[in-house]
Amino acid sequence: MQDGDRSGPLEGRHVLVTAGPTHEPIDPVRYIANRSSGKQGFAIAAAAAAAGARVTLVAGPVQLETPPGVTRIDVQTARDMANAVRDALPADVAVMTAAVADWRASDVMDQKLKKRSSAPPALRLEENPDILVSLGSSDKRPALLIGFAAETENVVENARAKRERKRADWIVANDVSGGVGKSVMGGADNRVHLVTESGVEDWPEMPKDRVAARLVERIAAALEDRND
Ligand code: CTP
Ligand code: CA
Repeated sequence: MQDGDRSGPLEGRHVLVTAGPTHEPIDPVRYIANRSSGKQGFAIAAAAAAAGARVTLVAGPVQLETPPGVTRIDVQTARDMANAVRDALPADVAVMTAAVADWRASDVMDQKLKKRSSAPPALRLEENPDILVSLGSSDKRPALLIGFAAETENVVENARAKRERKRADWIVANDVSGGVGKSVMGGADNRVHLVTESGVEDWPEMPKDRVAARLVERIAAALEDRND
């Protein structure tokens, strides 16, 4: 897709999407990660590009094809993702679907950790930067800032609190309970709740690309309403 081919409700807009997990190294062969597949974020990037937006997709390590018309930047760690997001600004809309690792190993070993006869090694962790929080308080804050919240309990309540704490406009909350291996993470369908300034909408379970298309419709309508 050439820039000149872009038309649709998001024509002329720059949409920034983060997707996938991050990998936080422990030693040269091990890392901390999570079950995020990146599918929901890739579907949103695809839907935004199909709606005419210029799309930057900052992707953690995932096995997915780059959607047509999307500029993809691959990263490994949360700090790499934070830098790539900062470099991609300004954006009209940011959709932060990435399951960023909350912690990284404080000391990354140069050599593979070896089993010794002594006790297992303790892993010291430190907190990663919160990319959504820094966007929320940035002087380059996108006009529409959307976070995701993967929760296993108190889904909507936690999402509401996250919306305020992170100064996001919307939080898309999804219930990722369901047990190891049976969760939404990695699956094709998603059941989400859209938490906005005016309340909570419960969307029925649907394929992730339908969630993406519906969210992109809402984004286009919101930008139009704000007339910016
Ligand atoms: N997020 C982020 N950077 C982080 C952690 C989270 O940008 N270091 C973003 C995610 O991409 C998501 C939103 O913040 O859009 C919420 O992520 P979540 O993990 O649900 O929230 P946390 O604040 O990390 O809270 P917790 O994991 O303890 O529930
Ligand atoms: Ca988290």
